[in-house]
Amino acid sequence: MYRGRSLVPQALAFKSLGAGRVIAIDPYLAAAARQTDDHEVPLVVLDDFVERTDWDSLYLETQERLTRLGVGDFGELRRMTSHEAADSFADRSVDMLHIDGNYDLAAVLDDLTCYLPKLRHRAYLVMDDASWQAIRPALDALDALDAPDDPCGASSVSTTVASAVWGRRATS
Ligand SMILES: C[S@@+](CC[C@H](N)C(=O)[O-])C[C@H]1O[C@@H](n2cnc3c(N)ncnc32)[C@H](O)[C@@H]1O
Repeated sequence: MYRGRSLVPQALAFKSLGAGRVIAIDPYLAAAARQTDDHEVPLVVLDDFVERTDWDSLYLETQERLTRLGVGDFGELRRMTSHEAADSFADRSVDMLHIDGNYDLAAVLDDLTCYLPKLRHRAYLVMDDASWQAIRPALDALDALDAPDDPCGASSVSTTVASAVWGRRATS
């Protein structure tokens, strides 16, 4: 989520269409934003970003932007972690999922585990910063799914993703 650079345009598009709803999730907490895997961006830079950011103000500004634009019926910001929010979505209810949160591999796997079952048949899955090596194993596991056009097809698909990735890490 962060500043709402994808939330706001999507909410505006839905407003102009008169239908649709985008739900953005971000805890706006330094502890959640901190990353420890070896990323393309040096950890010292990532840590500096986390420490310098005023998370409370960022949340309030983003919320205020939604209010000012009058898109409240079409866009919503939830201040919580993606894991905490997952249970509020019914299985096979989401048409597009955009993952752009914490990019440590464990966090990406948790997002996939929580949210793949929420996707409708032929839904879109967008992974931001997919070029980062730390999340490459998660993408490889997604590629290896038996039914890539229907990631929710197997009831245990999220477990399959996690197992595949952790298995690969353990042997490398
Ligand atoms: C750096 S931002 C992404 C920036 C985005 N690409 C942009 O240009 O605006 C990553 C966001 O993920 C959020 N985040 C971290 N852990 C999260 C979690 N468990 N659930 C949801 N959001 C999380 C952070 O608070 C941060 O705002």
